[in-house]
Amino acid sequence: MQALVLAGGAGTRLRPLTQTVPKPVMPLAGRPFLSFMLDWLRAHGVTETILSCGFLSDRVRGVLGDIYHGMRLRYVIEDEPLGTAGPVRLALDGGFLEERLLVLNGDVLTDMDLTAQLEQHRQTGARATLALIAVEDVSSYGVVPIDAERRVEAFLEKSDRPAPTDRINAGAYAIEREVVESSIAPGRAVSFEREVFPALVGRGLYGYETSGYWIDIGTPARYLEATYDLLSGRPESSLPARDVTGSLIGAGCLTNGAHIGPQAVLGSHCSVGTDSTVERSVLHDHVLVGADCIVRDSVLADRVRVGDRARIEPGALLGTGARVEPGVVVAADSRVQPGAVVEVGS
Ligand code: GDD
Ligand code: MG
Repeated sequence: MQALVLAGGAGTRLRPLTQTVPKPVMPLAGRPFLSFMLDWLRAHGVTETILSCGFLSDRVRGVLGDIYHGMRLRYVIEDEPLGTAGPVRLALDGGFLEERLLVLNGDVLTDMDLTAQLEQHRQTGARATLALIAVEDVSSYGVVPIDAERRVEAFLEKSDRPAPTDRINAGAYAIEREVVESSIAPGRAVSFEREVFPALVGRGLYGYETSGYWIDIGTPARYLEATYDLLSGRPESSLPARDVTGSLIGAGCLTNGAHIGPQAVLGSHCSVGTDSTVERSVLHDHVLVGADCIVRDSVLADRVRVGDRARIEPGALLGTGARVEPGVVVAADSRVQPGAVVEVGS
């Protein structure tokens, strides 16, 4: 089975973290995000994955390489962003596509049953089958009502109107190559959600209702939620054992005299000083936190430095190489640009 992962978005809602690291390979629980997705695809019989990249594509290839645990990885690089469907047409025109493929949004952490989705796709003779999952708040997703035969009745992308169902597009599609040939225009940006799927309603488009764990990691709150979930063991993953506080501490970290956890992730070679607390937070690699600091519910990217007695309040995102001077309080939900220096009063 072949899969294509859409991994070329700009990750706007995760800025400044995504200014230097593309969302698909951003560390999640200490591993490049896509490694979780590739494990899931492999478990459902995928042997080749095409990674569709644009924004910071070199970083994606540099992190994942050409073989992942026996799975072949191929790269299709866009010069200009082609939206969600345009990249699949580009892969077709490059001669990459087999008769049938899975297309995945590259920011979804899930354990849903792709094998069962493919089985339904075969049985109904669908041209495309969309995985659908129930969520409480549908407002940031594509809402997809289906009939009793599981035929899609409408595709309503991020609409303000009252939603007819709580089932949303989970970002996993089984698609026939013929649909890519006939329904996605070449050479321009095309959206599955706003063009291709609405036009396919009534013409072989089906929904597969799934359940299980599912989250889109594309906002700061959901990135942290996915982190806590992985630490607590749902979804299942091959992460190393967590410590007694439910935290994961990477290789070469120095944390003597510090309070790490609950639910913290430290990447490799981080240092946290005496009497400092880091809880429900994520430190990427080579992060230095001084003594007597408090870091709560925040994300600190690679090589961030936090001076003694500083406090990072919940919801803060600090970009790569940012520096917080001693004694500074970084307010809740702050966004600190890569390389910026936060001084007292700034
Ligand atoms: N290659 C490429 N080129 N990939 C892109 C581009 C592009 O121009 N634009 C977006 N992507 C990738 C993103 O990297 C992401 O993996 C995926 O396409 C979806 O884009 P998002 O920006 O994350 O979309 P969303 O989360 O707002 O909404 C989408 O996902 C929801 C489920 O998480 C839609 O598909 C919704 O219908 C869906 O409910
Ligand atoms: Mg998304």
